[in-house]
Amino acid sequence: MYAQLIKADTTPSENTARAEDFQRRIDAGEKIEPKDWMPEGYRRTLIRQIGQHAHSEIVGQLPEGNWISRAPTLERKTILLAKVQDEAGHGLYLYCAAETLGISRDEMTEMLLDERMKYSSIFNYPTLTWADMGAVGWLVDGAAIMNQVPLQRTSYGPYARAMIRICKEESFHQRQGFDIMNRLANGTEAQKTMAQNALDRFWYPSLMMFGPSDSDSVHSEQNMAWKIKMNGNDELRQKFVDLTVPQAEYLGLKVPDDTLCWNEDKGGYDFAGPDWGEFFDVIKGNGPCNRERLEARRKAWDEGAWVRDGLLAHAEKKARRAAQEAA
Ligand code: 3HC
Repeated sequence: MYAQLIKADTTPSENTARAEDFQRRIDAGEKIEPKDWMPEGYRRTLIRQIGQHAHSEIVGQLPEGNWISRAPTLERKTILLAKVQDEAGHGLYLYCAAETLGISRDEMTEMLLDERMKYSSIFNYPTLTWADMGAVGWLVDGAAIMNQVPLQRTSYGPYARAMIRICKEESFHQRQGFDIMNRLANGTEAQKTMAQNALDRFWYPSLMMFGPSDSDSVHSEQNMAWKIKMNGNDELRQKFVDLTVPQAEYLGLKVPDDTLCWNEDKGGYDFAGPDWGEFFDVIKGNGPCNRERLEARRKAWDEGAWVRDGLLAHAEKKARRAAQEAA
């Protein structure tokens, strides 16, 4: 079933030669395609990262879907609905990209539901007010783009190609979030306070999206050598801060970090990192909404069983008919 065929009878030296050739292809900027030989570690790491990414897109619909019926105008509802639908589409492209590596969507879903696979920490935080929809679009989608634009050049062809469309849509999402924040920040005092509170709530969780600091990142070194990951976690976090602080200033909002200051020598901001204890707690399942999010996914999976069964029965019927007609 695996897309790349690993011959059991290859000798260790043949495998070493293949691995060296594989690394040469990566270093030369070639794309690896599903039927190409790849080291088992590369395949497993891609499944972990792409699967985790797909789950994030799907779980990420929950905090926003919650606001569709409460968005303040028909136009805002339509825009938010379109955004949430886009996230579903992103999840599906990504599951398809992971499936080319020899794992099924059902297996990945089971791994999510029994907590063998993760999704992004950010979606374990609640969205308490309409301004949180602004902060999520502006900061969360902004952080996602910062991480995902380089992934358009990642070494695995199906993942890189999926990222091209995803990034285009994410950039629309970021703008709609910024537009909500802009409107609130220039509204009444109460609206401005709502926008500030949303920034206060989402700033540090957004910084956590880039993963632990490089010194605690277990996968970065190998994944960067394989070009599964194009940048270190700290580098992208720094870029995000440098880009976002002037946007907060434009909005007239204050980033909740008293240590924040421009560092002329490094050409970027010095800033306080998030509480890493909180981050590791959230990814272990103990964030404010982890249980609620997984419960919602389990419910959707269980209640959707009849649809999957129906589709399967229909596909089998069609295949049987086609076989009878061909006979
Ligand atoms: N949330 C949850 N887990 C995280 C995390 C985060 N923000 N950051 C790191 N981790 C986990 C890793 O998965 C790893 O755990 P594992 O070994 O059990 O899988 C551990 O923390 C150590 O971190 P590393 O830095 O060693 O992990 P990676 O090299 O995989 O880097 C990453 C983490 C930067 C998130 C990388 O996996 C990546 O670039 N992934 C692709 C992008 C992605 O998944 N984005 C999620 C957001 S999607 C989104 O935002 C939807 C949009 O609509 C807003």
